[in-house]
Amino acid sequence: MLSIDPLTKPPDIDLELPGSKSITNRALILAALADGTSTLQGALFAEDTLAMVDCLRGLGVGIECDESNNKIVISGCGGDLNPNGKPLWVRQSGTTARFIMPLAALARTEILIDGDLQIRKRPQQELFDALEKLGVEATFQGEQGHLPVVINGADLHVEDLQVKAEQSSQYVSALLLSAPCMAEDMTLVVDGEIVSKPYLQMTLTMMRSFGADVEEVDQNHFRIRATGYKAQDYKVEADASTASYFFAAAALSGGRVKVKGLSQFSIQGDIGFVDLLEEMGAEVNRSEEYVEVCGISTLRGINAMMKSISDTAPTLAVVAPWADTPTSISGIGFIAHKESDRVTAVVTELRKLGIEVGNHGDGFTIKPGSIKSGLVHTYDDHRIAMAFTVLGLISGGIVLDNSECVSKTVPDFFEYVDRLRLDGDEELDILAIDGPAGSGKTSLAKRISSEIGLEYLDTGAMYRSVAAVVIKEEVDPLNKDLVVAIANKVKISFVGEEVFVDGENLTEVIRSSEVNAVVSHVAANPGVRAVLRRKQRSWARERGGGVLEGRDIGTVVFPRAKLKVYVTAAPEERARRRSLESGRSMEEILEDITGRDQIDSSRVDSPLSVSSDALVVDSTGKTINDVVEEILGSFNA
Ligand code: DC
Repeated sequence: MLSIDPLTKPPDIDLELPGSKSITNRALILAALADGTSTLQGALFAEDTLAMVDCLRGLGVGIECDESNNKIVISGCGGDLNPNGKPLWVRQSGTTARFIMPLAALARTEILIDGDLQIRKRPQQELFDALEKLGVEATFQGEQGHLPVVINGADLHVEDLQVKAEQSSQYVSALLLSAPCMAEDMTLVVDGEIVSKPYLQMTLTMMRSFGADVEEVDQNHFRIRATGYKAQDYKVEADASTASYFFAAAALSGGRVKVKGLSQFSIQGDIGFVDLLEEMGAEVNRSEEYVEVCGISTLRGINAMMKSISDTAPTLAVVAPWADTPTSISGIGFIAHKESDRVTAVVTELRKLGIEVGNHGDGFTIKPGSIKSGLVHTYDDHRIAMAFTVLGLISGGIVLDNSECVSKTVPDFFEYVDRLRLDGDEELDILAIDGPAGSGKTSLAKRISSEIGLEYLDTGAMYRSVAAVVIKEEVDPLNKDLVVAIANKVKISFVGEEVFVDGENLTEVIRSSEVNAVVSHVAANPGVRAVLRRKQRSWARERGGGVLEGRDIGTVVFPRAKLKVYVTAAPEERARRRSLESGRSMEEILEDITGRDQIDSSRVDSPLSVSSDALVVDSTGKTINDVVEEILGSFNA
């Protein structure tokens, strides 16, 4: 469960958002099939793209991921795939499931393709029909036309194809992407209407960037030459669908959000979402380097045909209740077959929050109204979770029942959302105290908190609480996913000096040597940090401020704190203090704290460091009174 803190001030911010999922997954396929080594810059690292990386590796493609630099290096196979015989697991990724199937056929041997329950439910029949015409055998292990399936391309040959794209344009994109690596030139005709047409255009543009020769003989009639692909250094644009949530937040709050790395000439159709915001009255500024949205006080309702940009329909749906007239969204009946039935999901959840919504199958009509607080079901669908987060930014009391599904496309989504809150957070009364183990932060924070009448939060106790549950549940502290799941589910509360974890008093347990031994590993887990950071920020926002003590409060949690203090002391002095408190030997403590300092300072995510604008206090040889006075002098200045 995640309670969304509303914005207290309209955002005024430039954002750099993660790379486009659709571009990253297409570029991965193109680079994998190309002759030579390609580099993708600005690539997205999320569940859906990692699924593609795994599957391509399974087909024998060498891929090196450099996540901290958003870079992926692919050693292309020149169309000659060499599968390792293991099943390909597509997780929940629709693009991976569809794009990988013709590639598996190109490998000309039996390959099992499977994925999570959600993707097993999604339809693929049209793609199998087309592959069958090319001589590919598909043997379904479960339901006909669905994953899991064994693909066998031993008899793959070229035929002219007719394909339907009424349910998804991904079938056509999948066949197009593999076509240049077939034995002969191929002709492909799209039968009937095409949904999400800009995605098809994106596929064609990117194929050409990697050297393909695709001729549009007629509308929806393509001739693809058997040229193969050439390796490229390719820059991935920021994700326009992800940007829609931030543009919507700007439009609704009357704020300003500029997204860099997106342009008016973007190859992503979802950039068209800003045209709809503009029609509703928001101001939109477009350039080659960015797209910016500025909100106004009252938006007006519109009739929006969203067939080609349907991924952003839930985003527009959460903007609509604030317009002064109804908004009608049509042309999107097919989104009932996305990660969830998005038509039903949007209608049900908006109605739950008190909004009058008409469901006309092909879309919905949303009347203006005031939002009630409530629990939103996300249907394990990232786009529903992200859209309703925007709603929660504007209207208080919105809780998501499951927020983790955002990691499908934007693992750090809530961190980006918190950037919208930076200006509001600046107005909180925050005293951030950071420093290494045993530097005296805790005693200082407690004293100062009572002197200035602000509540105190020991953030280290939160990391310790998660570590205590990890030990209790006998989970490997280095198993990142399981530890994050624990961080998500534990309820930590403070009553005076006591710490309760899921209702149990663990005040002593969290200070035990067992917890000391694992806590730094737990705290080095980026997923755990993201969860606890959110809880720490919410804690302070609810109270209008507070004294927060930890390792990254001034650097990451509240970078605009009213005062940041970095307290330190010589290691021997710190060990002496802890030894006096605990009765343990100084040598043992010195070893413990230097070990923890080393992990805390060297971890990738928010390492212990001194903020450039922090007041640095070396407490060696000073009394607590001296240090309190020094800090209060600055806080009250
Ligand atoms: O302050 P402490 O010793 O109780 O902290 C316990 C551990 O949690 C320590 O290894 C550092 C980590 N921690 C952190 O990484 N970030 C914080 N804000 C607070 C503590």
